[in-house]
Amino acid sequence: MTARSAGPEWTAAMRALAARCGRAPSAHNTQPWQVRYEDAGVGVYWDPARALPVSDPTGRDLFLGLGAYLETCLVVAAGVGLGADLVVDVDRAARRVAWLVPAEAPYATGFAPDDVEARRSGRGPYAPGLLPDDVLTEAGGLVEDAGGIRHVPVRTLAPLLTRADRWMFAAPELTAELRDWLRLRPSHPRYTQDGLTDQALGLSRAEAAGLGAALRPRVYGAFRRVGLPAALAASSRGLLRGEGSALVLVGPADAGPADLVALGRALMRCWLALGARGLATHPLSQILDCPATEAELAALLDLAAHERAVAVFRVGRPVAAPPRSARRTG
Ligand SMILES: Cc1cc2nc3c(=O)[nH]c(=O)nc-3n(C[C@H](O)[C@H](O)[C@H](O)COP(=O)(O)O)c2cc1C
Repeated sequence: MTARSAGPEWTAAMRALAARCGRAPSAHNTQPWQVRYEDAGVGVYWDPARALPVSDPTGRDLFLGLGAYLETCLVVAAGVGLGADLVVDVDRAARRVAWLVPAEAPYATGFAPDDVEARRSGRGPYAPGLLPDDVLTEAGGLVEDAGGIRHVPVRTLAPLLTRADRWMFAAPELTAELRDWLRLRPSHPRYTQDGLTDQALGLSRAEAAGLGAALRPRVYGAFRRVGLPAALAASSRGLLRGEGSALVLVGPADAGPADLVALGRALMRCWLALGARGLATHPLSQILDCPATEAELAALLDLAAHERAVAVFRVGRPVAAPPRSARRTG
């Protein structure tokens, strides 16, 4: 690390922004980042207890989420005129991803902290219609330093999503990991802190109770072989029925952690731009987690051997405003 040391004032200013930086998105809302205020700068690490070793064994979503977090920190710091630079410095043994260090000038960005606040994942219905060309052009421009964006009508993805959901709900370890991050009742002790709430998932009280019951280990074990995965998968079938758009972020096939961090930053810029237009995003990562549907998607997009899809999400104008997601406070 060659950057100059962070003085106490700069460090205090960064510390004051922690809650706003924490509005970054992460898979299952695990918020895997761990921040340490050190002499060299703000060290950004990850917490292995907040990684998803079963559903994300390669760390694809972990490093995308950390990249999204780092981009958010830069935007939030720039919003208060604070100069900050990013030094990506992945060290798997130390579980460190990067340093934020003082800089002469604020990060050059077209986004503001209000955009960070306004961005939402939305899992409910969207108004019908495809994204206009200017949105696609903007999204492409915002990711081009790290990868590319492909546009797919959602209907094309519907059969892949059904297969991926069935695959996911048929795997006891995947289902157990998902269950750990579900907060389906407001009385859950971590309801306001992290994970996926009934509200975030757009579930009614009855649906949330049904999902909670179905995923209870004994019930799940008893019914897994007699159609429970198909029944659970059916719940998302309607999502991709109408006319709508999905975007796929494509990166290098051999993307390592630093590439995924760059792709996560690009993804965040893209989601901020969509959010600023009142559009919500709904990632469908199970399509990439399931090897069969990942291959189908690659064929559908005619990806070259050197390319790989790293994120898939539907995009649209939500019919009802998505709820604000939970964040941990400590
Ligand atoms: C890399 C990554 C993968 C994600 N995958 C999914 C997914 O497969 N399904 C889903 O519903 N949300 C997914 N999300 C969205 C998160 O669940 C969401 O960001 C988190 O719950 C916080 O909510 P917010 O985005 O509204 O702030 C993903 C987010 C990231 C950054």
